[in-house]
Amino acid sequence: MTGLRLTGVLTRLREFRLDDVDDAFAVLGDDRVTRTLSFDSRTPGQVRDMLAGAIERAAARPRTEYYLAVTPLAGDRLVGFARLGLTGVRAAKLGTAIAADHWRLGYARDAVTTLLGFGFGRLDLHRVSAAIGPGNEASLAVFTRIGFRYEGRLRDHVFTNGAWRDSLLYSLLAHEWSPARAPGDLVHKSNLIG
Ligand SMILES: CC(C)(COP(=O)(O)OP(=O)(O)OC[C@H]1O[C@@H](n2cnc3c(N)ncnc32)[C@H](O)[C@@H]1OP(=O)(O)O)[C@@H](O)C(=O)NCCC(=O)NCCS
Repeated sequence: MTGLRLTGVLTRLREFRLDDVDDAFAVLGDDRVTRTLSFDSRTPGQVRDMLAGAIERAAARPRTEYYLAVTPLAGDRLVGFARLGLTGVRAAKLGTAIAADHWRLGYARDAVTTLLGFGFGRLDLHRVSAAIGPGNEASLAVFTRIGFRYEGRLRDHVFTNGAWRDSLLYSLLAHEWSPARAPGDLVHKSNLIG
């Protein structure tokens, strides 16, 4: 199965494989990453189950989830995740996580921008939302930089790391989406990475 492959300026999004488990565990088993996610750090077994579940759901028709591996453009190894989960009428929820050793290289913004291009383009979505933990400055920067707007606060939205946590809800509508918003300095960063 070849599956979906989406190419950005710095990253590529591809379907998961079961041999992604070690690289996926490096992300989802790391407290630095999961501290701001809606679930606690996973064990290797839980990561394997998560990959198997995502691979199975990717084969469903109609497909309602695009949960994809993020790889650097130059390589094929997973360094993160990006997920578009369809919900309601022409709407989706978007989330992402990048391995801590690869933070601040522009990967999340590139991966999210690429997935939005797919969502508003091929999937003809009208609305994409993101629920972000208060104080998650990195995620707020990623989404607001792309043009997401604040909608409100979801009280006790998730139970994570032993406590209820609010989320800040952000969204982007199709007519607000501008792919041109991203590339300039991403290209610059990609040159720096070589
Ligand atoms: C949020 C996360 C995905 C960002 O990944 P990243 O690849 O480091 O982000 P990028 O390099 O694409 O940065 C995008 C923007 O965010 C800014 N940013 C990144 N980390 C930041 C931080 N810790 N504080 C403030 N701004 C930050 C960058 O400067 C950049 O801004 P710019 O576009 O104006 O240059 C990453 O920190 C992560 O995986 N966090 C843990 C999981 C998580 O919280 N996911 C989001 C759930 S909603």
